[in-house]
Amino acid sequence: MRKKIVAANWKMNLTLADGAFLVNEILTAATAVTTLKQVVIATPFVHLTQTAAQLEGFGNIHLGAQNCSSEKSGAYTGEVSAAMLIDAGVQYVIVGHSERRGYFNEDSAMLAKKVNQCLETGLQVIFCCGEPLEIRDAETQNAFVAKQIAEGLFHLTAEQLQNVTIAYEPIWAIGTGRTATTEQAQSIHAYIRNVIAGQYGNDAAANIAILYGGSCNPTNAAELFACPDVDGGLIGGASLKADQFLSIIAAMINS
Ligand code: 13P
Repeated sequence: MRKKIVAANWKMNLTLADGAFLVNEILTAATAVTTLKQVVIATPFVHLTQTAAQLEGFGNIHLGAQNCSSEKSGAYTGEVSAAMLIDAGVQYVIVGHSERRGYFNEDSAMLAKKVNQCLETGLQVIFCCGEPLEIRDAETQNAFVAKQIAEGLFHLTAEQLQNVTIAYEPIWAIGTGRTATTEQAQSIHAYIRNVIAGQYGNDAAANIAILYGGSCNPTNAAELFACPDVDGGLIGGASLKADQFLSIIAAMINS
């Protein structure tokens, strides 16, 4: 049985005090999560130890980071290693978000190294893929996403892949208020599952969780999560408001 996950990506938002307040609000209400229906909260690095302390005792609400160094340790000013993340209580790391690919020039070779650092250290990876608007308009999104997945993940063994979740996030839907339709989401999620099946077989494809991200909100979450190949969401803006995030969690739990 594959997991369903709703993951918050706070991006570069919230003071420590605001973060603590938000997590408390989420914890008071999010009691229904289970091993197969999980919540991840991916905070900025400086929040991690604070949020880890708040999440203690909440077994199925996990701490996430938004990035991780491609290197193990050493003279890499400004970087944070996978081992440091584990030490801080992190379980999931978002790798390859389009904002990292686009604004910080993270290419597939670097992302593959980041994936390796995470998996070798015992972290779970949320690997992001997704096309820009011009690719969607040209209707070549499937090939675009397949290439991102092949370059970022196909060096892994099937066993390693068990610790990877995929997040499909069309760039044109991120922070724009324009969401993929359920047809668009289901179609490309099914395609991604096929891509995984082609490389790793049907069992691996059936077991991998594929999350949708891009203007997911309380209004559209239930419909998106009802798609057979959409296994939850990676949530930006709506994860910064407790009531909205809780309602998205409820949609996942009821899906
Ligand atoms: P929004 O939910 O703000 O569109 O962001 C999606 C995202 O990028 C999550 O990683």
